Amino acid sequence: MTASPTSSYATKLFVINIADKILLVHMLTIVMLIIIRVICTLTTTTKTATLPPGPLHIPILTSLLWLRKSFSQLEPFLNTLHAKHGPIIALRIGSRPSVFIADRSLAHHSLVHNSSIFSDRPKALPTRKLMSSNQHNISSASYGVTWRTLRRNLASEMLHPAKVKSFSEIQNWVLDTLTNRLKTASESESFMAIPHFHYAMFCLLVFMCFGERVSVEKVNQIERVQRTLLLSMSRFNILNFWPQFTKILLRKRWEELLKLRKGQEDVLLPLIRARKQNKGSKSVVSYADTLLELELKEENHKLNEDEMVSLCSEFLNGGTDTTSTALQWIIANLVKYPDVQRKLVEEIREVIGGDDSGLTKIVAPGGETLGGVIGAFQHMI
Ligand code: HEM
Repeated sequence: MTASPTSSYATKLFVINIADKILLVHMLTIVMLIIIRVICTLTTTTKTATLPPGPLHIPILTSLLWLRKSFSQLEPFLNTLHAKHGPIIALRIGSRPSVFIADRSLAHHSLVHNSSIFSDRPKALPTRKLMSSNQHNISSASYGVTWRTLRRNLASEMLHPAKVKSFSEIQNWVLDTLTNRLKTASESESFMAIPHFHYAMFCLLVFMCFGERVSVEKVNQIERVQRTLLLSMSRFNILNFWPQFTKILLRKRWEELLKLRKGQEDVLLPLIRARKQNKGSKSVVSYADTLLELELKEENHKLNEDEMVSLCSEFLNGGTDTTSTALQWIIANLVKYPDVQRKLVEEIREVIGGDDSGLTKIVAPGGETLGGVIGAFQHMI
């Protein structure tokens, strides 16, 4: 049986009518939520009247204005506010007030004399909570037994010089790769060193993290998920503005964030699980191995997979840009100060014994010779 054109038209009208009603209900809900939010914020403002002075805060509107500013605009803006309101000011950025101190004795008084009150991390905002597995990584955990356990594990099991030595084989491989890439790159006219330092450090950290020399494709895949998340996190700040509200209105962006996190888990978890399965046959102790053994005494449980993904991600992110930028500055200064470069070469010769085989000549873009610098990496990486 086929429906007549009139009945299908009526059905369409009915569907549109329902869709309109649903939209109307959604909009009314959102308006109601906004009104409730304004009332709540206004009452909270009255409660926090003891906050230091600061610019006028208009609920929702001020937060929206903040979301349009980039982080680099914060400092000049703070300088203007300090000039107007004094050395200690309060600003409402997002859902909670932040206090900025621009006076060292006041900062000392708050952070040292009153350290028990102030020296802790604030509760993570929803997007950070998701990415840190509810503050179960070193850089976001609140100061206490869990943070101490995680930090001690990184410091003593991975970054301690004795432990770093156990990775000497992979360090040599990374050094060779870096040397070759720099040599090839230096033959072209425009030569940027930083991507090569970055790649070398990332390869080293991937090995230290998962204990295996993964393929170039895998390294690139890990780098892609990590970079995408790192670079797009600021785009998701808006979701913290009012989560109940953004979960409805910015549902697509929430889904995008969840998809990125899922992508990260899909890439990192198999590597962690592989370490769990190969318990017996390990040539080095990787960061993942230490996490698999770790017990959070305070919470009385072992780390779950989600927490391990967050910690491995922090390890990879924390160690890549910091070290490669440091290397870039070291090289830049060696190019700028040839005397220091010469002294360094002499020192390396003393250590490795007169033989120049480990010292490669690289010519910097301006024609400066970076003789011996590559040899220096042996000591740095
Ligand atoms: C030249 C190299 C590096 C520099 C300049 C650097 C710099 C910093 C600074 C300034 C902090 C904040 C200070 C603190 O909380 O104690 C920090 C924290 C941290 N760094 Fe590094 N870092 C470097 C290398 C690394 C490496 C290789 C890793 C790991 C593989 C790493 C992982 C971390 C972690 C997890 C934290 C958080 C510590 C905490 O909150 O308790 N960093 N780093």
